[in-house]
Amino acid sequence: MNIEQWDEYRQITDAMNEMISDMDDSPQMKNVVGHICRSGGKKVRPIILLLASRICGGDSDNSINAALAIELIHSASLIHDDILDEGVIRRGVESAHKKFGPAAAMLAGDYMISKSIELISIYSTPVVREFGRAGMAMAEGETIDIKSTSEDFAEMNYFDCIDKKTASLFAASAAMGAYIVGADERTASKLKDYGEKLGRAYQIVDDILEYTENVDDKRSENESISILQIYRRAIPHESAVEKATLLAMENVRMAKDILEEFEPSDSRSKLMEVTDHITTEMLPKTLKNTIRSR
Ligand code: FPP
Ligand code: MG
Repeated sequence: MNIEQWDEYRQITDAMNEMISDMDDSPQMKNVVGHICRSGGKKVRPIILLLASRICGGDSDNSINAALAIELIHSASLIHDDILDEGVIRRGVESAHKKFGPAAAMLAGDYMISKSIELISIYSTPVVREFGRAGMAMAEGETIDIKSTSEDFAEMNYFDCIDKKTASLFAASAAMGAYIVGADERTASKLKDYGEKLGRAYQIVDDILEYTENVDDKRSENESISILQIYRRAIPHESAVEKATLLAMENVRMAKDILEEFEPSDSRSKLMEVTDHITTEMLPKTLKNTIRSR
């Protein structure tokens, strides 16, 4: 599957390019924001938002500003994360703070967060609230993450951390997409639940890839404690990887079960595809085979 050929991906890329070309020509900020925004990324969160609008029977054209806001706050969080983690490579290129220095990188993050608030301001209260709460959760989750160095960091702390730093933005994206097109509370919260499960699975897979050194498009000097290190305290390396993989797969299954509650449609199929694409499909073949043969 090639998400980059989807209309939703193109819509978001176009909106992002337009935003950059509309920026004031003060070269420094435009350079830094341009570097980050054009360095790729799968743009899955805004795609989920657009598809959530469509699965609720709405037109995703009304959701494009919110989708761009989601991608901007996500990218800003990665700039800040790279400063905190001493990330040196991001999306296959030099991280913003390495290339431009920490001050310029931090300010570009501030700019992108502020721009995202401007973009989101046109929507109704539930949309703005979901957005604001996700940002707050991300900062809380990252705070837990940077403190996660001690031996007493347990499974419960890990889930609290990833639910906040990662799953919160997936959940908000799905719920916002629903609210924008006037979906009721029950439908929006169903989609929020889908986003939460997917976000959890995504972060566990990301942590498995980092632990098994199957990552080539990013690199950090500081690595946080993940579920793998927590399992590894009690069981051998292979068993820890297998156990974490099963956990990720369980969350993928729960996410897809929620989607099954919606009528079949093009948007539902695409949400199913995105769900697999950023989780199961990211895992090395050997690991997938081990899990399948169990
Ligand atoms: C990546 O985690 C980081 C996050 C998912 C969240 C980062 C959040 C902040 C820095 C708070 C800032 C908040 C806002 C609203 C801008 P990771 O280090 O496990 O993943 P990686 O391998 O991709 O670096
Ligand atoms: Mg990081």
